[in-house]
Amino acid sequence: MIVCLCHRVSDRDIVRAVASGVCCFEVLQDDTRVASSCGCCHDCAREVFDEAMAGAPCACAAQPARAGQHAAQHAALATAA
Ligand code: FES
Repeated sequence: MIVCLCHRVSDRDIVRAVASGVCCFEVLQDDTRVASSCGCCHDCAREVFDEAMAGAPCACAAQPARAGQHAAQHAALATAA
């Protein structure tokens, strides 16, 4: 199913991104551009992302390069929670 019409991002693209180590929605947006134009798909994209994350623990610890890239975002999420 296409989630984002503006950038042709599917639910499979989002699941694939999570499986490859994307564990922050903002990084998903950077990587795929999902929900970065009109924004109509934001809620659906977030729902698909959250479901994918529920089945995939954060891979940052296993990918040191990504851990550095995401460190600030993890800190922001931790303080927001
Ligand atoms: S449908 Fe996703 S940004 Fe427009």
